[in-house]
Amino acid sequence: MTVCEYRAGLEGIPATQSSISFVDGQRGVLEYRGIAIEELASKGNFLETAYLLIWGELPTEAELELFEHEITYHRRLKYRVRDMMKCFPESGHPMDALQACAAALGLFYSRRALDDPTYIREAVVRLLAKIPTMVAAFQLMRKGNDPVQPRDDLGYAANFLYMLNEREPDPFPAHIFDVCLMLHAEHTINASTFSALVTASTLTDPYAVVASAVGTLAGPLHGGANEEVILMLEEIGTVENVRPWLAKQLAQKGKIMGFGHRVYKVKDPRATILQHLAEQLFEKYGRDEYYDVAVELEKAVEENLGHKGIYPNVDFYSGVVYRKLGIPSDLFTPVFAISRTAGWLAHWKEQLNENRIFRPTQIYTGTHEAAYVPIAQR
Ligand code: SDX
Repeated sequence: MTVCEYRAGLEGIPATQSSISFVDGQRGVLEYRGIAIEELASKGNFLETAYLLIWGELPTEAELELFEHEITYHRRLKYRVRDMMKCFPESGHPMDALQACAAALGLFYSRRALDDPTYIREAVVRLLAKIPTMVAAFQLMRKGNDPVQPRDDLGYAANFLYMLNEREPDPFPAHIFDVCLMLHAEHTINASTFSALVTASTLTDPYAVVASAVGTLAGPLHGGANEEVILMLEEIGTVENVRPWLAKQLAQKGKIMGFGHRVYKVKDPRATILQHLAEQLFEKYGRDEYYDVAVELEKAVEENLGHKGIYPNVDFYSGVVYRKLGIPSDLFTPVFAISRTAGWLAHWKEQLNENRIFRPTQIYTGTHEAAYVPIAQR
């Protein structure tokens, strides 16, 4: 077996072959099954996008209607999952609650009939349908309220906002949220998708696969950055303070949250679309002062780090949109997880044909022939 050159973080090392999405980091291109993200974001919707990612084709009207019906039907949680959530500390992070609940689904449905298309479809439907309900339920419970039941008459995005805020959203913000879900659905072999692939390669159940991926997404270098960005913008506070704040960060070699990317060396195309969504919301509901801080910070970071290919990524403007939609900042990453479940499941399903366990090697840097020293002599 030839050992390839070691690359920290597996930078540039292909871990799999996939036809689900494509990213050109130099040109700022993102395609889902060959369709440009700008095209999908302007014409599609999240469930149609999830279907495209998972089954490889845009659904016909009948296929989409059936898929939407199945998702609506499976939105409710087992009462035992809700009872389990009642024991979670209110101060716990919603991503930890979500990871626990995703894994708990495996207690009810963990059959591993991975060669059964019906089992695969049921797992896809249950996870896509129930994860939004889990996120909203934890939000209400940690406030001391009973969770509200999903509403079968509302679409995927509108129903989540309804369950979260206990009131039906206007169609416009619900549409904006649906576009956000499309933008976050898939992004080739990012850390959480890689985590899903490694877990799936042992042929465990899809609930454990998604639970692994949720845990990985939670980190501030990955999906957790969107929550950090809003905290950063609040810390900066004003447009005037952007440059003094940045100078301090750069002097301390600090990472600017929401900037930089392993693949994109130009502005993330999703950041550009999210900016347009933010501006549409501001037009209708008034401007958010942090947006001006964000725009100024983008300019200042480009002046200082643009030469290193450090530009806004998807997490930089998403928080500004979510804030305007009334989503609490520690739910930004769970919202990312709701959407990325589509991408994780698409890769899980695609890899089932591969059926090869991930088991990389290492460059050993330790010693040999070491002696066991009795504890009295250590
Ligand atoms: C997501 O992979 C995906 O596709 C992820 C994602 C998806 O859709 O799944 O796009 C979603 O996770 C977006 C990224 C969100 N994370 C952040 O915003 C956190 C801040 N960003 C960085 O931590 C960093 O840019 C990463 C983690 C995103 C990428 O890390 P890399 O590729 O390992 O880059 P690196 O840390 O090795 O940095 C390379 C250089 C370093 O400078 P030198 O030591 O070479 O001089 O760039 C600098 C870094 O210091 N750098 C930054 C920076 N990001 C990189 N400097 C300041 N601020 C930053 N944000």
